[in-house]
Formats: sequence, C-alpha cells, structure tokens
Amino acid sequence: EKGGYDHFMLKEIHEQPKAIIDTYRGRMLPNEGLIKMSGIDDNLNKFLNANRIIIIACGTSWHAGLVGEYLLEDMARIPVEVEYASEFRYRNPIITPNDVVIAISQSGETADTLAAIKLAKSKGAFVFGICNVVGSSIARETHAGAYTHAGPEIGVASTKAFTTQITVLTLISLKLAKAKGTMSDSAFRMYLQKMQLIPAKIEGLLKIDEKVKEIAAVYKDAKNCLYLGRGFNFPVALEGALKLKEISYIHAEGYPAAEMKHGPIALIDENMPIFVIATNKGHYEKVVSNIQEIKSRSGKIIAIVTEGDVQVREIADHVIEIPETEEALTPLLTTIPFQLLSYHVAVMLGKNVDQPRNLAKSVTVE
Ligand code: M6R
Repeated sequence: EKGGYDHFMLKEIHEQPKAIIDTYRGRMLPNEGLIKMSGIDDNLNKFLNANRIIIIACGTSWHAGLVGEYLLEDMARIPVEVEYASEFRYRNPIITPNDVVIAISQSGETADTLAAIKLAKSKGAFVFGICNVVGSSIARETHAGAYTHAGPEIGVASTKAFTTQITVLTLISLKLAKAKGTMSDSAFRMYLQKMQLIPAKIEGLLKIDEKVKEIAAVYKDAKNCLYLGRGFNFPVALEGALKLKEISYIHAEGYPAAEMKHGPIALIDENMPIFVIATNKGHYEKVVSNIQEIKSRSGKIIAIVTEGDVQVREIADHVIEIPETEEALTPLLTTIPFQLLSYHVAVMLGKNVDQPRNLAKSVTVE
C-alpha cells in the first residue's frame, strides 16, 4: 500500500507531479487559453464584486492560504486577509455579505475551520471550500468549492495537499485576474503554459534526493533551525519549518527574510543552520544581502536558488537548485526540497515519520 516506499510521506511527496496534474486536469486548458472551474464560474459575480476575500484555515492549509493571498492580490487585485480559523471564530470578526470566505482544509473535518465557516455563513458571507476529501463536512457545509484531487493523504505531515491547494489557488487567481482584466491575455496564456511545465519540473527535483540526504546528515543534530523567504516564498519558509518541527521534533522557525534584523538575528551563531529561499526573481538582491548578514555572523546557509545561480553559491554552505519558472509559481518547486529534508532528518533520527507523537491527521477537536 506504500507503493514500494518506506513511508506514506515519501510516497506522497513523490505523488506530487501526478496529484498536481489531477488537480488541473479538465480545468486548465492552455490551448484554448481558458480555466474552467464550475464553483467559480457559477459564482463569478460574488468574487468580482467582493469587498475582500478572507481565507481561513489551520496549519499547512493556512500556509497555502498565505500563498493564496500573495497570488490573489498580485494577479486579481482583490484585498485578501488570511486568518487562523481558531482565532477568527473567537475574535468577533467583522464579516459582511460582501465578503467572500475561502476555507482550505485537506481533511475537510478540522473542527476550528468548520466552526469558522458556520460563523461566516451566519453573517451572510459566501463561503467557498478548497478540500481534498470528497463529501467531507467542510465540503458539505460550504456554498461552493473546488476539490484538490490529490488522492488520499495518509502521512500526518501534509505534502501533496499543500502543493495541490496552491495549484487550486493559482487557478482561481488566474481565472479572476482574467475575468477582472487585471492580467493581459498574453500573460494569462503564458502562465498556463508555465503551469503545465511544473509537474515535470517537480519530477526532476525529486531526483536530487541524494543531495538533500547529504544535507540532512550534516544538520540532523541541530537543536534549532531558521527558514527564511520573501514574497511568495515567505509562506514556504513557514511550511518548511512546520515540516521539520512536526516529524523531526527539531525546533524550527520560519520568518520573512527581512524580519531577521528585528530580533531573530540575535540567535545566529556557527551552530545555527539557516535555510534560505533565494530564487532569481524574488527580491533576489535583497535576499543576497540578508544572506551576507547571516554569513558575517557565522550562520550556516543552505540556500534554494534558481538553476545557474552564481552569487549565492559563492556565499552559501550548500545550494539546492530549482528549475526556472515564473516567481508566482516557485512555491510549488521550492517546497519540495524542504519536504524531502524533513523526511530524511526524521528517518535518520529514528522518528515515526507517518505518525508523529501528539499529532492526529484530522484535528476534529478544538
Ligand atoms: O485537514 P486540514 O487541512 O484542515 O488540517 C489542518 C492542519 O491540521 C494540518 O495542515 C496540519 O498542520 C498538518 N499536520 C501539517 O503537516
């Protein structure tokens, strides 16, 4: 049942190219220059007239929501807020019938997310679900939605759910951008072409497993790690840190790279591994100077860079290359090495990868 892999998590990491294709199949039509999503098509005016979009979720799904915020605001120019479902439901939020709420949940059973949806509905908001499990409570409770079609995710650490949630959010953002006219037709078509190349690029990235394993072996005994990224890759830094925490039990924190100087830089010494995402179009020069600040304090740098990078390679202790794509699509690639890294660290430390202590796959209690 693990398809020849030692753990479900590794199997699910490797399933991502196919899961992403399953998610966009029939929806994304690059030759026709079209995205079809019935849940959006049937409610297009609600999205186009929305004052704002509020995204609610927990854990990894919340991280996907943050990527969604950057995508929706950048492409479709709709204001977005991303909230932890648990905070949203208890803080007397201002919700009006002109708000669109997007709830994201792999399992569709997360108690806090479900309660937040009920609250939003009671205030008259239109609620759209992005779920993986068909017929789940959240899928039933929302007014409309789009399934991720990732297939069953068994490992407690979410992997393919994350990348397929981002895929759905990318499709929605592109579709709304086209409908609103905030993106040119040529840019829209270019994105569809680039999106279609992502699964093969992930396939290629999965082959660097040995290199990631070597890095895992060097840093597996670290007590603390930092993950840094900017823009679209800031949420990927948060997700990288969560993956390491939950299955390796190593304390890790994700930060926007520029926040370093407001506190966390004090933590850096020669024992601190720092994972930095430095893709070539993502505020590259700024990230390079963030890396220099870390290096001058003896931190160890493991950088995720774009193929052919020279500048970061000179400063970093290790580099992992991802193939070139549009910056907005890079989270689908940069997240892969982080998934593999936490997997290998957990295996090397002898941890229970698929069933980490204290955690359940669906959190059905608040
Ligand atoms: O099923 P959901 O997407 O609603 O679950 C939300 C979180 O509990 C979940 O993403 C959790 O953070 C994962 N274990 C992370 O790997």
